[in-house]
Formats: sequence, C-alpha cells, structure tokens
Amino acid sequence: MADNKRPESMERITTSALAEAFIEEQLAALRAQIGDKKVLLALSGGVDSSVVAALLIKAVGKQLTCVHVNHGLLRKGEPEQVIEVFRNQMDANLVYVDAVDRFLDKLEGVEEPERKRKIIGAEFIRVFEEEARKLDGIAFLAQGTIYPDILESGPVKSHHNVGGLPEDLQFELVEPLKFLYKDEVRVVGTALGLPDNMVYRQPFPGPGLGVRCVGAITRDRLEAVRESDAILREEFAKNGLAGKVWQYFTIVPDFKSTGITDGLRTYDWPVVVRAVNTVDAVTAEVAEIDFKLMAHIVDRITHEVKGVNRVLWDLTPKPTGTIEWE
Ligand code: XMP
Repeated sequence: MADNKRPESMERITTSALAEAFIEEQLAALRAQIGDKKVLLALSGGVDSSVVAALLIKAVGKQLTCVHVNHGLLRKGEPEQVIEVFRNQMDANLVYVDAVDRFLDKLEGVEEPERKRKIIGAEFIRVFEEEARKLDGIAFLAQGTIYPDILESGPVKSHHNVGGLPEDLQFELVEPLKFLYKDEVRVVGTALGLPDNMVYRQPFPGPGLGVRCVGAITRDRLEAVRESDAILREEFAKNGLAGKVWQYFTIVPDFKSTGITDGLRTYDWPVVVRAVNTVDAVTAEVAEIDFKLMAHIVDRITHEVKGVNRVLWDLTPKPTGTIEWE
C-alpha cells in the first residue's frame, strides 16, 4: 500500500506559493499519466471534484469530459454555478444531465432514509454509466479522493458510497488529490481560481436535500427545503457566519401545523433550522446565533417560503441528535 501513503517529505500546503508548486508538479504528472487519452469525471460541484476538474482542465483541457448530474436534490443555484464556472469560464467539456424527474420518480413514496440513500446512490451510478457509454475512447476516470478518504472509512464516510461502475467501465484512476487534507484542497482550489463559495463550502451530503425532506420526498416540500436553505445561507453569509459555523441547513418534516396569515387560518409545513459546530462530525454542538438574527431568519422563511407557516430551531447537540435528521 506504499502507493497510498502520503510521502513524508511532502510539506503541508498552507500558502498560495506552496499551492502553485503543487499545481505545477501535478500538471506535469497528469500530462505524463494521461498523454493524449481521454478522462472522465463526475463533477458534483463539491470542493474535491471541482478542484480535480480545475486541475485537469489546466493539464489536458478538452481531453477531460465532466459529467454533472442534477438529481434534483442540489441546493439552489448549484447546477447553474457548475455550468457558469466550468463551461463558461473555464471552457470545459461539460455534459449537464437533467435527471431531476428520473430521481424524484424513483423516490416517490419511499420513506425509509437508508432506502432513499440507496436509491439515490444507485440511480446516480446508473445515470453516470449511461453518459460514460455515450462517450468514445475514455481511458481514465478521475476522482476527488482525498487523504482522509484513504486513511479512514469512519462513521461519516461509511454510508457515502453506494456501489460502483460495472466491469466494462473500470477505467484507470486519476486521483491528483489523494494525499491532500481538506484544508490543502481548499488552498489549491483558490490558487486554481475557483470562487470562494465553491472552495469554502460547508459539507453537503451526497444524497443532498433528499435527507432533509423528511420521509417520502414530495416536490412541494423539497422546494421548501431548497428555498429556506437558500435564505439561511444568504443570511449567514451576510452576517459573517458562513465561514464560522461548520454546517447549517434547513429540514422540512412531513407534518403540518396550524397558523395564521393576514387573518386567515393556514395549515402548512414547519421548517427546522440546524446550525452546528464540530471538529470531526462524530460529535457536534449547536452554534450560538444572535437572537435578532434568528428572529429575522424566522421572519424571512415564514414570509418567503411557500407552504411554510412556522420555524423551529433545533438546539440538540450530537449526541443525542445526529447532524442530519435522516
Ligand atoms: P450525521 O447526520 O451522521 O452526519 O451526524 C455527519 C456528517 O455526515 C454528513 N452525512 C452524509 N454525507 N452522505 C454524505 O456524503 C450521506 O449519506 C450522509 N449522511 C450524513 C452530514 O451532512 C454531516 O456533515
């Protein structure tokens, strides 16, 4: 396993100068490995796959094909940002797959969280597989593996990966970040010119908003998760909390309660807000948020998000609550 051990001589990448040196070294290594062959990458828009994409675009340009699958469970603005940054700004070969209906149809009526995860994971592989088969002459599969993925498959990672590609699509792997820690990936991402909101993004689960739309996913509640999440992110960013709180998001449970708007009785969904700090996601504490800001967020969500009449703030540490609700 010598191949999978970070070289002891490797300096921790903490500055843009060190990032530049790493990038130069990787560009040469990638060009040597890939030659004039073609590479495929599943580009989620998360930090790791985005940095791999940016590196490969620099190294081999159009020999790279990025596939971005929109499974309908992404945050507001994410697919648009992937297209803007990679296709429009970096001139990448980007295949955008709108698979929203396909995923939501498969998930219809499915309540159990682990089944939801399995369906999302398996469907993702299927969509990616179909796209890979449409392309000729792919020799390499690039992946955003980072060093912690190699070191541990701890509680956080254990439920991430569902299945893999079939035998005829087992390409040689290209993993330029496999010896980097997350903070180093971010420094490299910035040096490659990726936007801060992509590089310093909070962790986002593979199944996306799907595990925040509690129980069987419906399109109206999913939209309420997406819109309330966007408001929360906007307010945290405006108030200097975006880089300070480890993870913050909203959840829409599958029950309703009564409310009143403009003198009329309503019967609508609540939105739950969760904001936590943690070092390793194994335990977590609730982030203390200024009460005025909380009240402002409640006001915006209840007035701007369709079908929502109440906001609950989750004050439960982990344990006993997990960070996600499913
Ligand atoms: P929990 O809810 O287990 O979450 O306290 C710990 C961290 O893991 C993330 N998480 C996931 N990430 N696929 C992922 O890629 C998943 O299925 C998944 N479930 C939870 C969660 O967002 C938190 O950061």
